[in-house]
Amino acid sequence: MIGGWWLVMNVDMHNKLKEIIQSLKIWENHDLLWLPTTTSTNDDIKAIWHNDNFCPIIEVADTQTKGKGQYERKWASSSIGQCLMFSFSIDIKEFEFPVSMIAGIALAIALEELGVSKSDFWLKWPNDIWLNNKKLSGILTESTTINHGLRSVVGIGINILPLPDKSINAISLSEYNIHVTREEVLIAFLKAFDKIFHLSASKLSELWNNYASNFKKIKCKIQILNEPAFIATALGVSNDGSLMVEKTNGEKRKIISATLTPII
Ligand code: BTN
Repeated sequence: MIGGWWLVMNVDMHNKLKEIIQSLKIWENHDLLWLPTTTSTNDDIKAIWHNDNFCPIIEVADTQTKGKGQYERKWASSSIGQCLMFSFSIDIKEFEFPVSMIAGIALAIALEELGVSKSDFWLKWPNDIWLNNKKLSGILTESTTINHGLRSVVGIGINILPLPDKSINAISLSEYNIHVTREEVLIAFLKAFDKIFHLSASKLSELWNNYASNFKKIKCKIQILNEPAFIATALGVSNDGSLMVEKTNGEKRKIISATLTPII
């Protein structure tokens, strides 16, 4: 799909966005590609991973034909403008606070700045955002090893307008009465990510725990691969991004990888 890239927005708007993006330290070398359609923005970025040189691109698509979520789920995109869908690539050292969770914090900061009340949304471990007990946003991070660490592609989907499929427990910003464009959400996210990316792991985990305070009030069904599911309450994340939970019998457990289904 990468060979078919072309611009979809008017040149002035594109240049204006690029100027804002390149004024931010972490994004200063990045190009912006805004496509009418693609298979998956994550897959497009991964297609250029084999290049030794880091490819600084923020890719947005109006629609995706094979949008992906975590655990091989699909990420549906209906009409143009319904959802902001974008991906970017980042090189990180191993054993840092997970980049997908940094993206989650940045999105939480952006949402607050756009007018979403902190008491109405929460970060769901590891990196979804829920608003009024429904899913607003999902983040899919895929990584590969490079010489001195990890190269990750971070892909984000945020519902701006209502989803046509009402059977999904999802919400959009417009249903919460926040009427913003995808461009505004993108810029708010990129600014917040730029601000926090270089913070220490302890500061990042503190921020994460702060934006997850509502998440820590609810019980979740926790499914770890090849284990029976159990019910627990989240206590908080550590500096490595793992989640400490407390089971209904009081036993505490550290979670590295699992699917969590909130019981609401
Ligand atoms: C999830 O909730 O499981 C993660 C969803 C991630 C969706 C985004 S949309 C942009 C990027 N491209 C993809 O194919 N997926 C991510």
